[in-house]
Amino acid sequence: MFDSLKLSDLPRKQSYVLRKPSTTRPTIWVVEENGLRAVVKDYSTNKFVFRNTVGRFLVWREGKAYKKMKGLRGVPNIYRVIDGLALAIEQVPGRDLKKVTREMQIPETFLSALKDLVNDLHGRGIAHCDLKKATNILMGKDGLPYIIDWGASISEKEFRFYPFNLIYKRFVLDDQMAVIKLKLRYTPHAVTPAENKRYKNRDKAEKHIRIIRDRLRSILQKLA
Ligand SMILES: Nc1ncnc2c1ncn2[C@@H]1O[C@H](COP(=O)(O)OP(=O)(O)OP(=O)(O)O)[C@@H](O)[C@H]1O
Ligand SMILES: [Mg+2]
Repeated sequence: MFDSLKLSDLPRKQSYVLRKPSTTRPTIWVVEENGLRAVVKDYSTNKFVFRNTVGRFLVWREGKAYKKMKGLRGVPNIYRVIDGLALAIEQVPGRDLKKVTREMQIPETFLSALKDLVNDLHGRGIAHCDLKKATNILMGKDGLPYIIDWGASISEKEFRFYPFNLIYKRFVLDDQMAVIKLKLRYTPHAVTPAENKRYKNRDKAEKHIRIIRDRLRSILQKLA
């Protein structure tokens, strides 16, 4: 699937640009081949230095995360990494949460499935690290949650030694906190006592870890 797709072919293919590139963001294409649709996150259109440093690095990291997540319901499949500069990912039919929340309340079933999904990805040893951004969570046409944009994610394995193991734990907590925040806002009755406690204690966690985490996050997010 999309095996022979070349970046240079994209403008001529059955495709359209979902989002134009900016200095630090890739072009997002939607391409159709044999009835299947892929989203292509493409850094090849960014400036030379950026695409060959940050672009390649992010594609490599995001590609790695997608491979670890393979087969997990709620994470689209990755078709291919193209020339180290772009990712071709299965298109999730649906809308992102930013758009969804403009039009409707988020139902409880969605948020409880999102909580399970976040637990599942942590079960695979990955923290997403950018779930507070509503455009990184999609609501599929099936009403279920999907998570995209893994460029800032980190793996438990890479962060297994002190003090990185503590930072990994903080990021896991941040992912969970993003879901709790959505629940507090849209389905407060469904927030469990444990979630409430976690939310209330969020500022009591060790200060030094938070400082390191915040620095790291700002680096990862600037990159992503
Ligand atoms: N697999 C997908 N299926 C459907 N839509 C997608 C998919 N991947 C990306 N998109 C759309 O493209 C947008 C940008 O993708 P993504 O978040 O991966 O890129 P980004 O450069 O990190 O963007 P941002 O800085 O806005 O987070 C998403 O918010 C979503 O609307
Ligand atoms: Mg994003």
